[in-house]
Amino acid sequence: MRRTTGRRVSLSLRNRLVLVFSAIVFAALAVLYLYVTPGLESRLLRDQEAGLAANARAHSGAIARTVGSSDPLSLVQNHVNAAALATGNRVTLLLVNEVAGGRELSALADSSRRSATAALSFAVARRAAASGRLETGTERTPAGIVGEAAYPVVFRGRVAAVVVYSAPSSNIARTVATVRHQILVAGAIALLLALLGSYLVARALAQRVKRLELAAEQVAAGNFSEPIPVDSRDELGQLAVAFNEMQRQLTQLESARKKFIATASHELRTPIFSLGGFVELLEDEDLDPDTRRRFLEQVRDQVERLRKLSVDLLDLSRLESGSLELRPEQVDLSELTRSVSGEFEPVLGQHDSHLELRVSSRRLEAICDPVRVAQIVRILIDNAVVHTPPGSRIMVTARRFDGRVRLAVRDDGEGIDPQALGRIFEPFYTADDAQGSGLGLAIASELAECMAGRLSVDSRPGETTFTLELPA
Ligand SMILES: Nc1ncnc2c1ncn2[C@@H]1O[C@H](COP(=O)(O)OP(=O)(O)OP(=O)(O)O)[C@@H](O)[C@H]1O
Ligand SMILES: [Mg+2]
Repeated sequence: MRRTTGRRVSLSLRNRLVLVFSAIVFAALAVLYLYVTPGLESRLLRDQEAGLAANARAHSGAIARTVGSSDPLSLVQNHVNAAALATGNRVTLLLVNEVAGGRELSALADSSRRSATAALSFAVARRAAASGRLETGTERTPAGIVGEAAYPVVFRGRVAAVVVYSAPSSNIARTVATVRHQILVAGAIALLLALLGSYLVARALAQRVKRLELAAEQVAAGNFSEPIPVDSRDELGQLAVAFNEMQRQLTQLESARKKFIATASHELRTPIFSLGGFVELLEDEDLDPDTRRRFLEQVRDQVERLRKLSVDLLDLSRLESGSLELRPEQVDLSELTRSVSGEFEPVLGQHDSHLELRVSSRRLEAICDPVRVAQIVRILIDNAVVHTPPGSRIMVTARRFDGRVRLAVRDDGEGIDPQALGRIFEPFYTADDAQGSGLGLAIASELAECMAGRLSVDSRPGETTFTLELPA
């Protein structure tokens, strides 16, 4: 097995989380910087142009009226200055002269001294003169970008002049540069915080995962005693709860397994010791034939007990591991019950017990493994004989009920202690002094469940009934 070493630290959960968090923050900032700030600049420029256009519409009336009139230039200059003062823009009045092959623009009045302002080429004014509509745009000058709105003045059916409102856009560029700078600074701080925050979160997460890993290693090493502290209700907390539950069940399984092995070896040891004792006694050559026969009978009994115990243990372990193979088929349970009951005739005679069989003469079909159903019926009748006083009456019935088949074995013995009733289906549990090993009912109920059936008990003094239900 390869273990995580220093060489692979870069792939650890913590580092991966830090990397992912930082990458997300970095990507968000990059989008903000590369997409939002250029958009901001063009929007601010558009806003400026709209403002210039609104000024042009609102303040050009007086200037327009001077076009074509005989007003002196000083009056025109006054109107231009007044519009500039009212709007805060530079206002320029350009005359449009039709010349061969196009138009020529010449400045008639300007609110700024030409030497103090950037020389404009007035491309926007040319557009307005051509289209006869208010035009807006920007112009690059050595002093920076300038926004312009050109208002055409129509005189005698043609554009005779254009009033241009212009304002430098340098403050927009400055604003955008400031925003860019602030995004960079805020981004750097956010990135640092994201790195630190994700490192702390990832470290806490990694520590909790590590704790689970250590606990799993403890369990793998067979130590089930230390539960993991559950410190939250989140997914890792749920995992810790599930882990503790698994640990609890493993503890139970482990102690059940130990108990099973201890009880099984004890059960096996008793007849083996007893056999050893009898074999030693039989070695005595002076034994009289009667005693020898009695000892041999005991040997046969112990061998039979060992045989039954080993077969039962094998069945039970196969049932519990799920490796017992069943062969379900259509079975006539009337016939099966009759034949198994018949096997008990000699035993019933010995116990002076009486067995009454109440099954219909017609076929009673069910889908099950006949060998295993016979085994269950044998276990139930055997119990009804062994755990009741001599002379008791046993009744075996088989009938269809509610779409299922019910086999019942009833006896009129002393009944089972109510406290023991809940435990008689546990392996090795015995509720009386009869020398059973306590495996019969455990096997019978597991077998019933394997065939989609159910084994239940109802007991009171003078009447105990075990009922096996099988799908029809
Ligand atoms: N018909 C019954 N009447 C009274 N007690 C019963 C009856 N059937 C079962 N029991 C009680 O239930 C216990 C468990 O029965 P189970 O068949 O599992 O074991 P067992 O008969 O003692 O041993 P095994 O069947 O393995 O030889 C018995 O020890 C007995 O105390
Ligand atoms: Mg039994």
